[in-house]
Amino acid sequence: MRRAGAAAAEILLEVGSHVAPGVTTDRLDEIVHKATIERGGYPSPLNYRGYPKSVCTSVNEVICHGIPDSRPLADGDIVNVDVTIFLDGVHGDTSITLAVGDVSDADHHLVVETQAAMYEGISAAGPGQPVHAIGRAIERHARRHGLGVVREFIGHGIGTEFHSGLQIPHYYDARASTILVPGMTFTIEPMLTLGDPACGMWDDDWTAVTLDGRRTAQFEHTLLVTEDGIELLTVTTDGTVPAAVFALAPSLGSI
Ligand code: MF3
Ligand code: CO
Ligand code: CO
Repeated sequence: MRRAGAAAAEILLEVGSHVAPGVTTDRLDEIVHKATIERGGYPSPLNYRGYPKSVCTSVNEVICHGIPDSRPLADGDIVNVDVTIFLDGVHGDTSITLAVGDVSDADHHLVVETQAAMYEGISAAGPGQPVHAIGRAIERHARRHGLGVVREFIGHGIGTEFHSGLQIPHYYDARASTILVPGMTFTIEPMLTLGDPACGMWDDDWTAVTLDGRRTAQFEHTLLVTEDGIELLTVTTDGTVPAAVFALAPSLGSI
């Protein structure tokens, strides 16, 4: 799981460095596919339940599972790139939202606070903690920053399966009462919105969008519960977190 996580992080670093105005999401898909194969892995999304590409690229109002296509990224877009690799029998799953060129203050706020919400959720996790501590922390952060939390898509157990039985809501749900124990591996991947988090689906049956058309961001790590805390698995072998490399500077705007 550490090797798969590190590979996913390295691939995300590589593809992230290509995100710029004029670059198509199909090009990002090619980069991820090649980088995955080069590492001896398989791109987990490809043909997963019929998904047609090797990565998810979710632009602006797309919540998640955006399918790469021929549209060039434009200045002012935000794009989530979600990389999953199947390597040596297990999956590593990680995503970040990147700014394309210059983004608005509101979008900057959305991206920065979505990443912060993910880390709040990670900090709330650990051995002996219930799963619902994670969603409670994420929801609190979102509320404090005036952002919505998508409910239809949640974090998941991960290992030899891409999505295993464990469910990790990003909002407080008393039913998520499983107690975390050392050895568990799962993702935390909150999707936050500037407006209403209500969700619609394109007729491709993959692309999830906000119904109000306002923007949404997402960050994701694969995690391991240890004896004394939580380990981030989706970091490079030298400990680099892709999100930190591409992190937006603290807002200089009015927010
Ligand atoms: N990587 C996504 C997740 O975080 C799942 C993508 S499934 C796909 O769970 F089929 F759309 F690729
Ligand atoms: Co995931
Ligand atoms: Co993912």
